[in-house]
Amino acid sequence: MTYKMPDLSYDFGALEPVISGKIMEIHYTKHHQTYVNNLNIAVEKYAELEKNHQIEAMIPLQQAIKFNGGGHINHSIFWKNLAPVSQGGGGVPQGALLAAINEAFGSFDQFKEKMTQMTVAIQGSGWGWLGYDKAKKELLLTTCANQDPLSTQGYTPLLGIDVWEHAYYLQYMNVRADYVKNIWNIINWNDVSQRFETHQAP
Ligand SMILES: [Fe+2]
Repeated sequence: MTYKMPDLSYDFGALEPVISGKIMEIHYTKHHQTYVNNLNIAVEKYAELEKNHQIEAMIPLQQAIKFNGGGHINHSIFWKNLAPVSQGGGGVPQGALLAAINEAFGSFDQFKEKMTQMTVAIQGSGWGWLGYDKAKKELLLTTCANQDPLSTQGYTPLLGIDVWEHAYYLQYMNVRADYVKNIWNIINWNDVSQRFETHQAP
C-alpha cells in the first residue's frame, strides 16, 4: 500500500456536540478509507502502464488519481484542522496567523463571516479553504469543487471545511449553515498556525 490512513489524534466522539461520533466514524472509516483504497489502486495501475509506455491508457486514469488523491489530501488536513475543545479546539488564532488574518480581512470576525458565507454557498459537494498564496505572500479565501485539492489553484492549504453532505447530513440534515457555524468551535488553530508558519518561510 503506497498511501495510508493518517492516525486520528482524538476519538470519533470527541468532537461532539459539533460533529457526532457516528458521522466521524463513517467519514473516517468509510469515506476517507475509500479514497485511500482507490488512490492506491489507481497509482499502482498507473505505474504499471507507465512502465510499458501506455500513455493513452494512463491519461484517463489521471481523473481517478485527482479525485481520490484529492480526497486523501483534503481529509488528512481536515482531521488535523479540527480538535476537541478539551484539546484546545475553538477560540481565536494567535501570533503571526492572527496578524496576517487581520491584514487580509480586517479582523478575525470579518474573516470568519466571509469564510462561513463562502463555504455555505458552495453548490454541490466541495470545500471552503483558507489558503496561502506563496507568490503574493498573502492569505486568501477560495472554494474547491468535489475533491480537487487546493494545489490545483496553486495555493497552500491552511484550513479546509468539508461541505460534502457526508460531513454533516446525519446530524444537521439539509442545514449546512448550522454545521459551518458550529465548526468554528472545534478549529485547531495551533495546526492552522503551524501550516501558515511552515509555508510562509522562504
Ligand atoms: Fe469528507
